[in-house]
Amino acid sequence: MTDQTTSTLFQPFALGDLTLKNRVVMAPLTRSRSSDAGVVPPYAADYYAQRATAGLIVSEATNISSQARGYALTPGIWTPAQVEAWQTVTRAVHQAGGKMVLQLWHTGRISHPSLHDGALPVAPSAIKPAGQAFTNSGMQDHVVPRALETDEIPAIVEDYRHAAQCAKDAGFDGVEIHSANNYLLEQFIRDSTNKRTDRYGGSVENRLRFPLEVVTAVTTVWGGGDRVGIRISPGTTMPGEAPLDSDPMGTYGTYIDALSAHGLVYIHDIEGVTQMSRDPNGIDYPALRKRFKGAYIANNNYDRALADKTLEEGNADLISFGRPFIANPDLVDRLRNGDPLAEAPKAYWYGGDQTGYSDWPGMNGQIKG
Ligand SMILES: Cc1cc2nc3c(=O)[nH]c(=O)nc-3n(C[C@H](O)[C@H](O)[C@H](O)COP(=O)(O)O)c2cc1C
Repeated sequence: MTDQTTSTLFQPFALGDLTLKNRVVMAPLTRSRSSDAGVVPPYAADYYAQRATAGLIVSEATNISSQARGYALTPGIWTPAQVEAWQTVTRAVHQAGGKMVLQLWHTGRISHPSLHDGALPVAPSAIKPAGQAFTNSGMQDHVVPRALETDEIPAIVEDYRHAAQCAKDAGFDGVEIHSANNYLLEQFIRDSTNKRTDRYGGSVENRLRFPLEVVTAVTTVWGGGDRVGIRISPGTTMPGEAPLDSDPMGTYGTYIDALSAHGLVYIHDIEGVTQMSRDPNGIDYPALRKRFKGAYIANNNYDRALADKTLEEGNADLISFGRPFIANPDLVDRLRNGDPLAEAPKAYWYGGDQTGYSDWPGMNGQIKG
C-alpha cells in the first residue's frame, strides 16, 4: 500500500471548475427511505452530511418523472416538494464542506405496473427482464414492458431537461446521468434489449441517439458539460439478466467518443459486473478510458490497495466506493489511516428509517449530524 502521506487518493482534484478535496467519491446508493411522493426524509440530510468528507458525493438514483419509477420508496426530482427536501440535503452537505451531484434515473423496463396505477413500464422493446421488482407490496415478478412509440421519446427527453433544472434549483453542484445498470438509457444502447426498427434502433448511431439527446438536454440546462457526468456499466448484466451488447468495445467506444465531444466532465465506469465481480469479460476498460477527454471515476469492489495501484498506474482519476460508505460515514479517514471497516447487514440496505442509515458511528464512536 502506498504510504498514507503520499497516496494520490487523498490529494485534491480539479473536476471541471470544482475543486475536490480528495479523490474518494461516494458512489450512488439507493436506500429506499423516501415517501410515496418521492420526497427524501429529513434525516437524509444527516446521512449525506456525515459522508461529506468524500471529495464528491453522488446521490442515490433519483427518478426524473413518475414514469421513471421502478422501485418503491425511491426519491424524485420533478416536483416542488421533492426539490425543497433535496435543498435541505445540499445545504447540509455544503455546510459540512462537501460537494454533491444528483443521479438522474429512469428505470425503463426494471419496474412494475403497481408503481404506475396498473400501466405497463416502458422500454425500447417489449422484452421481459428476469427477476422481480421492489414494490409497495413486496417483490413482484417483472412483466413484459410496453415498447415506446417513436413520438413519445421527445417527452422523456423533456422530463430529463426538467429534472436537470430541478436539480439545479435544489442546489446540487452538478448531475450524473444514470446510463448504467441496464436501466432505460442502457436498454436503448445494447442490441440485446433494443430491437427497434425506427431511428432509435438498429445501428450503433441509432441506439445512441436517445441517450445523446438526453445528454444534450441536460448539458444545455447546466450551461455545458462542466457540471455533468455520466455513469456507464458495459460489463454488467443485472438487474434483469440483460445480455451484454454484442460488441461492447465498439458500442461503448463510440458512445464515449460522443460523450467526450459533448464535453462531459466525467465518466463513472462500473468495471466488471456491478457488486459481483471485476472480471473484465473481454472489455478493455483502460482502452475505453483513453477515449475520454474528461475525468474517469473507477468503481466496483475497490479497496485502498487497489485504489492506490489504479491511480498510480494512471488508470483512473477518482475512485468511487459504494458499499463501504453504508456503515462507515468516515470512510475517507478509515482508508487514510488503515482502520478496519464496519459492515452493514443487508437488512439495512433498502427501506427502514434512521437505523442502519444515519446512525453509524465514526471510528471515535461519535455520530455527527
Ligand atoms: C444498496 C445499494 C444501492 C445501490 N444503488 C445504486 C444507485 O442508486 N445507482 C447506481 O448507479 N448504483 C447503485 N448501486 C451500485 C453502487 O453504486 C456500486 O456500483 C456497487 O456497489 C459497486 O461498488 P462497491 O464495490 O464500492 O460497493 C447500489 C449498490 C448497493 C449495494
